[in-house]
Amino acid sequence: QAPPLMDKFGRRFEYLRLSITDVCNFSCQYCLPDGYQCDTPRNFMSAPELNMVVQAFAKMGTKKVRITGGEPSLRNDLTKIIEQTANVEGIEQVAITTNGYKLEKDLRKWVDAGLTSLNVSIDSLDPRQFEQITGDGRLQSILKGLELAVELGLQVKVNAVLLKEFTDPQLSLFFDFVKSNNITLRFIELMQTGDNEAFFNAQHVSGESIENKLIDLGWTRKHKAQWAGPAKVYRHDDYLGRIGLIMPYSKDFCADCNRLRISALGKLHLCLFAEKGIELRDTIAKSLEHDNPAYLMTEIQNMLGQKEATHYLDKGFTGATQHLAMLGG
Ligand code: GTP
Ligand code: 5AD
Ligand code: SF4
Repeated sequence: QAPPLMDKFGRRFEYLRLSITDVCNFSCQYCLPDGYQCDTPRNFMSAPELNMVVQAFAKMGTKKVRITGGEPSLRNDLTKIIEQTANVEGIEQVAITTNGYKLEKDLRKWVDAGLTSLNVSIDSLDPRQFEQITGDGRLQSILKGLELAVELGLQVKVNAVLLKEFTDPQLSLFFDFVKSNNITLRFIELMQTGDNEAFFNAQHVSGESIENKLIDLGWTRKHKAQWAGPAKVYRHDDYLGRIGLIMPYSKDFCADCNRLRISALGKLHLCLFAEKGIELRDTIAKSLEHDNPAYLMTEIQNMLGQKEATHYLDKGFTGATQHLAMLGG
């Protein structure tokens, strides 16, 4: 076991976000409004490469892995990836963030393979608006999948990106949903990326308006464990579920950063909005060749020194992040 991953600001990183593809079948207006476009063959990391990455992180104290995309369920070997990740010594939680497209059909398999938590994006509970935002008409099936997830005892979170045109008129639907469902609904403030400037300018609303509403309605802030990450979560006695806020533009958001990211092409991203990502593919190959994660561990430890205190989103800096499908958010 190596020393735990800690940066020069004293932040600890026990949480890895592992992107396994950048392909997506939805076309969310803020992310991939024209759908997924690609004219070159993609060379995503194989299951053995992904496994080596997880082993290296686990030896440096990583306890939680969140599998992300693009849309991770578009990979045929997703169940195997979940299983091998859950089997790595030291990994206690295997989570996935999905658009829910294969939830109803495949969730049982994922849970049998070792999945412990599930985040699903649902930007509107109105089927017509849902389709307008995502380009997909499957809301009912996604909701059935969610119900199944709760039944199976998973930790379930729903993500809704705050959008000026859509969220406010829908707020009561979201509140009703949380009243009777034991899930955490998180409103995510829309983030500017390289591709979505015009959409961002038209649709961005601050999370504070929702937060103030919650406080006025008697919601109280849940105690947050150390290194629990940037979401602020509220609860209310009359509601079975919780409501959280992810507000990347608010002060000190990055002070609680607890995560590092690996892209599907094998780059280390120290921040969602850092520069291009640090190439690790060759080192992953070397670790695999010698069946020894140490090469990778040394490289990651060295690179962590470059992690900055914060993103510079409020100054309009979006790094090389054209859209979040590139890196899974
Ligand atoms: P859990 O605590 O594991 O549930 O993580 P999460 O809430 O971050 O997971 P999820 O994949 O559902 O992410 C929700 C969204 O929050 C991401 O897609 C981003 O839009 C945003 N987000 C998560 N982490 C960060 C971060 O480090 N920086 C910024 N700017 N946004 C983040
Ligand atoms: N701003 C905020 N959230 C975004 N997501 C994707 N793009 C953006 C953006 N520009 C969300 C998705 C999903 C999560 C992975 O990130 O809706 O819930
Ligand atoms: Fe796909 Fe997620 Fe991007 Fe929507 S936000 S297009 S579901 S990757």
